[in-house]
Formats: sequence, C-alpha cells, structure tokens
Amino acid sequence: MAVPLLDINRQHADIKDDLTKVFTDALANSRFIKGPEMEALETEFAQYAGTAHAVACASGTDALILALQAIGLKRDELVITVPFTFFATAGAIVRAGGTPVFIDVLPDTFNMDPDLLQSWLNDNCAITERGIIHRQSGKRVAAIMPVHIFGQISNMDSIMATASTWELPVVEDAAQAVGAKWKDSRAGSLGTIGCFSFFPSKNLGALGDGGMLTTNDPELATRLRSIREHGGLGYLHAEVGTNSRLDAIQAGFLRVKLAKLEQWHAGRRANADRYKEAFADLSQVVTPVIDPRAWSIYNQYTILAENRDELLQFLRDKQIGCAIYYPLPLHLQECFKDLGYKEGDFPVSETCSTKVMSLPVFGELTKDEQDEVIAAVKEFYAK
Ligand SMILES: Cc1ncc(COP(=O)(O)O)c(C=O)c1O
Repeated sequence: MAVPLLDINRQHADIKDDLTKVFTDALANSRFIKGPEMEALETEFAQYAGTAHAVACASGTDALILALQAIGLKRDELVITVPFTFFATAGAIVRAGGTPVFIDVLPDTFNMDPDLLQSWLNDNCAITERGIIHRQSGKRVAAIMPVHIFGQISNMDSIMATASTWELPVVEDAAQAVGAKWKDSRAGSLGTIGCFSFFPSKNLGALGDGGMLTTNDPELATRLRSIREHGGLGYLHAEVGTNSRLDAIQAGFLRVKLAKLEQWHAGRRANADRYKEAFADLSQVVTPVIDPRAWSIYNQYTILAENRDELLQFLRDKQIGCAIYYPLPLHLQECFKDLGYKEGDFPVSETCSTKVMSLPVFGELTKDEQDEVIAAVKEFYAK
C-alpha cells in the first residue's frame, strides 16, 4: 500500500463546504486584501497564541524579515541562530541586512543548545554603550533567533534567561510550531516577537502562502503593521518597509482551519505515540525526544535512523512517503561560504543531517497506513 508523507486533501475534505463559502463570499464582496477577515484572524490568532497582538503578513519568511527590521536590525549586524533548520531562517537574516551567527543544536531535541549560546556570548561578546558587541568583528549583536524545529519549542527558560542577561531581543522562528507549548505558554508568546508560516504543509496551512507575527509589545505591533505596508501610514513614510499583506481569502481559509487545529494536533500526537511504542524495541531508530516541559505539535515526525539512506530508499521503493529535513546544515551551504564556517564546526547539526528522516504523521493517516510504515521500517532492520 502506498502511504503519502502528507495528504492535505483528506483534511480539506472535512471542511470543503466552509472553504468554498470563504471563496464565494470573497468573490461576492470583492475584499481581496486584508479587511475584516484578516483582522478577525489576527484577533483569533492572538487569542490562540496567548499574545496581546498578532499581525498577519504574506509568508513565514516575510514574518522573520519584518520582525528583524522591527527590532532594529541594521546592515551587517549579527543575529544568532542555528544551522540545522530550513533555509529561510538564515536567508531571512541576510535579506534583512544582517549576518547569521550559528550555534549548534542539541542532539536529542535538535533545538538550539542553550549552553553553547551562553558560552558563545561569554567568550566572544562585550556589553558596551553601543550594545552587545562581537569583539573580533566589532559588529553589534542584534538578536537571538531560536527555531522551534519540527513542532517542538526550544528551551525557552534558558534562552530567555541568557537574552535577559545580555538584553537581547528574541525572535522566535515558530514557523513549524503553531500551537506548540513550553510549559503553559504557546509558541510566539515567549520571546519578543514570534514568527509563523502558513505554508500549506504546516499544521495550520493556508491554500497558498501566508504568515503571522505575534508580540505583547504594542509599539512593536504598530511598527510591524507599518513595515508590512511600505513603512508608512497613508502616504507618509517614516521608514522603508515592504508589501507583505495577507489576502482576505487566505485569512478566511485560516480561520476555518484554526477552529480545527487542536483536533488536528491531537491526531498527530496520537500517531507520534503509536510510532514511539512500535519502535521502542528497535535499537537502530531513535524516536523524537520531547523535553518534559515541551508539548510538541509534530509538524514533522523525525527519527534518527541507522543506515538512513538505505532505509529511505527501501521505504520509497515501497511507495512510503518519507523525507530528509535537512540534508545539509546551513553553515555548509554554498551561499554562506563567505561566513567562513567549515565542516566540523557544528558536529551535532552535521550528524543530524546524515541521520534524520521524517515519517508520515498527519492526523488523517489511517491505522493501516501507519502499520504499513512501521512494518516496513522493522522489515528493513530485520534484514
Ligand atoms: C523553520 C522555518 N522557518 C521559516 C520558514 C519560512 O516560511 P514560509 O515558507 O512561509 O516563507 C519555514 C517554512 O517553510 C520554516 O520551516
């Protein structure tokens, strides 16, 4: 039996009438950009994330760029992030004018190693009148950008403690973590600004591109609203922004889906539990390690697998959907050569890239399909 990595059609079948109504309403009222649908989504999303404000924009990548501009990133300033993530994390830093500084991830959760963050700041930076300065380059450190990878929030107790010591803003790359919790707080409510993606494969996906920013700071919220529309109100521009608005129709689709999100998370979490149990006796597979303080939404179900590439091929031959997120850490990407990193600089990220594999975990996956995946993985290692 073929098993897809993700089948969004199944999710949409359940809400087809509601989605169609959003489309026919938009066609009838001709409000295509922003408008009451987007404002309602912002209100509902802020409520869901537990923040005072939510500001919609055109994509998760834009959310990161807007956030960095809003916290005051200037050309060539440094932003601390991780190399084991989707490209957009560091791509957005560069697009916003900054330079990424990488900190390795933890081998179990794949999220930023808070001890390494602290030691990098202690060893390389000084608090000065100009802010936090990287001694060797003389550049200012503008922000810390942890990534909540695969749906699990980073260790925000430690990261926020370090950020507070160094008085650095924290931009959460929560693109993969809508609704995920750290203790009782949702992603996007712990740092200075939270950034979300509504790419269709995300737990909360639009029928196209979309993004959201969250913050508790009213001034930042106002600034984000301004930057997403060319940095001005009316025709008066205090700064240069961009065009990063959310279509009303996408906002409408997302409102329909937001109402279902907890139910969909529950489906993913139940599937994750089943894999964990099924692979418990398989020494060649490490199932996702979730920090006891975290509540994952499993945007991906990512295992560490021995003989990963052979397993991948074996599953693909059986038409079982699987993928490698991510095969090459960002410090080794061609476009970041100038940053001066080399192989061996981030051993955990490099090892992860050779061992990770994501398996189907979407909520509508049937028991038979999941059994097929489990049986195939077991068959591979029994050989
Ligand atoms: C970790 C991470 N950051 C940023 C992004 C960018 O989001 P988008 O594709 O909506 O621009 C994504 C999404 O793909 C992501 O997974």
